[in-house]
Amino acid sequence: MPALVLLGAQWGDEGKGKATDLLGGSVDYVVRYQGGNNAGHTVVVGDQKYALHLLPSGILSPGCTPVIGNGVVVDPAVLLSELSGLNERGVDTSKLLLSGNAHLITPYHTTVDKVTERFLGKRKIGTTGRGIGPTYADKINRVGIRVQDLYDESILTQKVEAALDFKNQILAKLYNRRAIDVAQIVDEMLGYAEQIKPFVADTTLILNNAIDEGKVVLFEGGQGTLLDVDHGTYPFVTSSNPTAGGACTGTGVGPTKINRVIGILKAYTTRVGAGPFPTELFDKDGEALRTIGGERGVTTGRDRRCGWFDAVIARYATRVNGLTDFFLTKLDVLTGWEQIPVCVAYEIDGKRVEELPYSQSDFHHAKPVYEMLPGWSEDISKAKTFSDLPKNAQAYVKALEEMSGAPISAIGVGPGRDETIEINSFLS
Ligand code: GDP
Ligand code: IMO
Ligand code: MG
Repeated sequence: MPALVLLGAQWGDEGKGKATDLLGGSVDYVVRYQGGNNAGHTVVVGDQKYALHLLPSGILSPGCTPVIGNGVVVDPAVLLSELSGLNERGVDTSKLLLSGNAHLITPYHTTVDKVTERFLGKRKIGTTGRGIGPTYADKINRVGIRVQDLYDESILTQKVEAALDFKNQILAKLYNRRAIDVAQIVDEMLGYAEQIKPFVADTTLILNNAIDEGKVVLFEGGQGTLLDVDHGTYPFVTSSNPTAGGACTGTGVGPTKINRVIGILKAYTTRVGAGPFPTELFDKDGEALRTIGGERGVTTGRDRRCGWFDAVIARYATRVNGLTDFFLTKLDVLTGWEQIPVCVAYEIDGKRVEELPYSQSDFHHAKPVYEMLPGWSEDISKAKTFSDLPKNAQAYVKALEEMSGAPISAIGVGPGRDETIEINSFLS
């Protein structure tokens, strides 16, 4: 089983970090393929808690080589501070590999991100303010700066000039901000170059060779399916492709080399930032999910919006990612409810709809159709096998599996590495 993708099946924060870390001990490479430090993954190892943003969660597994692929956008200041933070805690980060083709987030990208949001006012996306959208926009617009540009001062200067030429006009004339100085940006970027150099590599070649040699490679998505710029709830999305295809474009590994695609699925639903969310709760149940589930953003500290499980979304994630398995997380959070509502379909303009509507207007009007499933009150955090779960928890998992279109191969019953029920091995 050489290559697998692990990605978010909802709106992010499904517990991808924990799932990746869990497999990290048995894989040779863990590769981020899109997004940047907008991600926030909490990984709990024993009594240690780590918050990772840019680095792949495999960095915490000693035998594993962490890789940042070409599809990732990299803020060099964040990269270096995340590395030194881990080094101070005794984590060896020397094996990290960084694609020379990855694009760099510079201070002007974060400025443009924040200014744009401010000017959108009520229509803002609620971005993380990390410069993600503007960096991908420059990449597509062919005025981006890549990691490899750090090693040619003349090219770097020309590219920063090209990027700022237009942006400075907008910043000064439209947004009434000070223009950004080219030399200052170039100096700052060159200041990171030597520290980053040992990590820079031809990651596409290395990963393809590794797969050909039978090594196990895990592609770790940031964000989630519904935040995908093509397949998500546009425009309330991030600016990259967290869906499975992103693993190919974001690393240079072809789809024929990927054997398994695992969707990380929370036993309920959360979302950060603006945009439609049919099962969102505004009552005490929503508050209870937020409190019990610890649903506060790892990156921005914002409260996450919470709601019941939405099977329409899970089915959609199965379809657009070609999921082979689900990893159901945070089942323990649902302990204590007498009955648990699950959204099985939507009602749109009086009609029952089973699949995610492609029309944004329909999705905005979608009302959840709920089925009530019996809850359980027993503590499940010590369960090691499926049969250790109370009957109603087993039935909840089976019902979700039936509705979602792919087998649930693992279940999270707590944040720790060992608080997981493995049903089918991901690596066999
Ligand atoms: P990611 O962005 O998908 O990696 O997810 P986050 O780390 O942002 O959010 C998931 C949160 O849930 C983290 O605080 C995890 O430690 C925690 N978590 C993951 N799996 C479980 C689980 O099965 N049960 C509980 N109670 N917490 C979990
Ligand atoms: P992880 O990897 C949840 C959301 C933001 C905003 C939208 C666009 O931890 O699951 P951006 O800064 O990316 O341009 O913001 O996407 N968002 C996330 N929500 N989890 C994440 O990452 C997210 N990364 C971005 O809140 O709505
Ligand atoms: Mg997160």
